[in-house]
Amino acid sequence: MALPDPLGRPVIEIIRDVVQDLIRDTGYGEGPRNAQLRNRIEALLHAYSGPELNNGHGSDIDFGDPLFRASYVYLYCTAHFHATFHGMTKFYEKHLLRDFFSVKFRTSSLRVCALGGGPGTDLFGLMMFLLRFTDNGNRPIRVKASIMDQYPAWENAFLAILKRIHKHLNMEVRYVEFDVNRQLGDDVSRELSNAKLVTMVKFISAVRMLPRAKDVLISAMNLLKPDTFIFYIDNFEGGNTEFVKEIASQTNIDICFTLPFSSNSPLLLPFNEDARILDELRGEIFRRDSQRQLRVHIMLLKKCRRTTRPTPRQHSPSASREFVWGVTNRQHRDVCSEDNRARERHPCSRTLSKPSIPPTSPSNIKPSSNLPTSPSNIKPSIPPIGLQSRSRPGARNLLYTLCALCFCVCIMLLVLVLAQK
Ligand SMILES: C[S@@+](CC[C@H](N)C(=O)[O-])C[C@H]1O[C@@H](n2cnc3c(N)ncnc32)[C@H](O)[C@@H]1O
Repeated sequence: MALPDPLGRPVIEIIRDVVQDLIRDTGYGEGPRNAQLRNRIEALLHAYSGPELNNGHGSDIDFGDPLFRASYVYLYCTAHFHATFHGMTKFYEKHLLRDFFSVKFRTSSLRVCALGGGPGTDLFGLMMFLLRFTDNGNRPIRVKASIMDQYPAWENAFLAILKRIHKHLNMEVRYVEFDVNRQLGDDVSRELSNAKLVTMVKFISAVRMLPRAKDVLISAMNLLKPDTFIFYIDNFEGGNTEFVKEIASQTNIDICFTLPFSSNSPLLLPFNEDARILDELRGEIFRRDSQRQLRVHIMLLKKCRRTTRPTPRQHSPSASREFVWGVTNRQHRDVCSEDNRARERHPCSRTLSKPSIPPTSPSNIKPSSNLPTSPSNIKPSIPPIGLQSRSRPGARNLLYTLCALCFCVCIMLLVLVLAQK
């Protein structure tokens, strides 16, 4: 059964239409244009999917070039929309964003900064979540977003995507020029200090090796106000997560939760995002499949109120504990890891219990944890599957004691009755 699409139709269909619009508008003749597009796809795969990424070449791509933008949208956008939607939904289900989305933005807009936001991928993923959230009977939330990127020319792709989404998106967006290898400008600083949510989707891996990136990102994170959330997605391997944890440890930012999707358990696109929808574009032009699986860490971080940090080791990966809380019917696991020590010591972190149901138990099997969650699943009143039974160990102990007492009383009564006879 097809799942309801938050944007009214599968993302992959929207992306097909957008790519057709973008390549039509490049002004090239068809033959040379298609050859150029194939070159761009190879360059993107080289920069973003190969070892080159670890050498910092992710920032070498010139997104001022419309053919690069069209190729990027074809290759990555469907997957990045869904990864953001999936992460937001999971964090909401885990009650990490419940107050954030339910209470704060009744009167004002939710101010979002998308660092390295490109065509607005992070933002469209967020809007997918907010549409689902509103469908579920919650108040609409208005988003006021700044997409900060070295290439403001991305705005053209953003508008092309917006034109092909036929649902009303309650948002106001502007592009701000931002180079993470240069000192922060006033405009960028102002937006960051007003933000309530900062997104970094596949941004860190693209810029991490730039000489000034770390210092500039530390300055940027220092500008955030307490309680600002940071939503992060990036490659599972290659040191990106460690890089972000290091920046977090220096800027009073706590890690609330991590969703790891490794090579053994990648994040897959939902079934209704049918790859065949891109058949024509793939066959006639790109000759490469668009991305359908992600090996990433999805993390939620939060700027803390505290001014001093206990020790920089509190985000140490060695302190991490992993637990399985679901298995999809595509036989890949959705594994959630939690930094135990961080959870104990960080006032911002929310306490989540390890499930007591063993991973093999049928009751712990979620039919499709990678798929967009059904509306009923994102109701705040429903605790996440697998996180329920360890949540009241005291109550369980009391129950055991009561049972033991009843048993003793029964034995005593039996003895009395037998003695009277
Ligand atoms: C892999 S793309 C991610 C785009 C988008 N967030 C997504 O998930 O699809 C990396 C983005 O970083 C931007 N970028 C590259 N170098 C940059 C720099 N030095 N400063 C700021 N942005 C940069 C690119 O223009 C691009 O939009």
